[in-house]
Amino acid sequence: MHCWLLAALALWAVSGGDSLPACNYPPKLLCSSWKMAVACQVEKVCPKFYHRPQAANPVSLSLYYESLCPGCRNFLVTQLFPTWVMLSDIMNITLVPYGNAQEKNVSGKWQFKCQHGEPECKGNMIETCLLYQLKDFFQSFPVIFCMESAGSVVENLEACLQLYAPTVQLAEIKSCVTGDLGNKLMHHNAQLTDALSPPHNYVPWILVNGKHTDALQTRAQTALFRMVCEMYTGEKPDACKDAGAESQLL
Ligand SMILES: *[C@@H]1O[C@H](CO)[C@@H](O)[C@H](O)[C@H]1NC(C)=O
Ligand SMILES: *[C@@H]1O[C@H](CO)[C@@H](O)[C@H](O)[C@H]1NC(C)=O
Repeated sequence: MHCWLLAALALWAVSGGDSLPACNYPPKLLCSSWKMAVACQVEKVCPKFYHRPQAANPVSLSLYYESLCPGCRNFLVTQLFPTWVMLSDIMNITLVPYGNAQEKNVSGKWQFKCQHGEPECKGNMIETCLLYQLKDFFQSFPVIFCMESAGSVVENLEACLQLYAPTVQLAEIKSCVTGDLGNKLMHHNAQLTDALSPPHNYVPWILVNGKHTDALQTRAQTALFRMVCEMYTGEKPDACKDAGAESQLL
């Protein structure tokens, strides 16, 4: 599943490769620069380069989740990421890894206890550091998606970085994960989670345009792509008009 985007890109490159400048770049780098994307004719499928004029606010979706909760992983991998690949220019996603964790101030440093134990705390911390240190969501989200879709979330950080953010140093992420920076960032996630109104009583907990209701939650978990297309008030992107696009996702 984590090769979905790359496979699509590779196919695209192969099928359109007989004109214009030579496309002889490795597939994993195709979307990393405009030049490579154009040479390989994949610019339309690189989310980073596929911006249209925005006439309306993007549909915002906030996901409060835990790195190892099965329902969270399922939503992130099968709904949120594929929908974002198609609709990134009309969506604004905020990820808050923390969920049902708890924190305690132990002589000035925060200690966290996670629903699925220590590995989950580590997964939450890695993903929090990725979101902060990679800055660009177009880099961090594919890495998080890759981790969440793998058998073991935390063991796959290095491989996922190599695949989706090859310029990022593993050591940089690790130092955030084990240091004060990660500790502060996770405390911030705790504050964001504790400030939810209504308070969350399960995970994944989804906010759409800043609001949580049972109806929005159910719709997001069952038909996110259609929901985002419908809620966007500007001119619909082509993916929303193409009846086949949604079925290609899953
Ligand atoms: C996306 O959401 C964040 C907060 O959730 C907000 O700060 C930012 O302005 C939003 N971006 C757009 C383009 O609406
Ligand atoms: C955490 O505990 C330390 C001392 O144990 C204290 O100085 C500090 O104010 C506490 N911080 C918060 C936010 O409660």
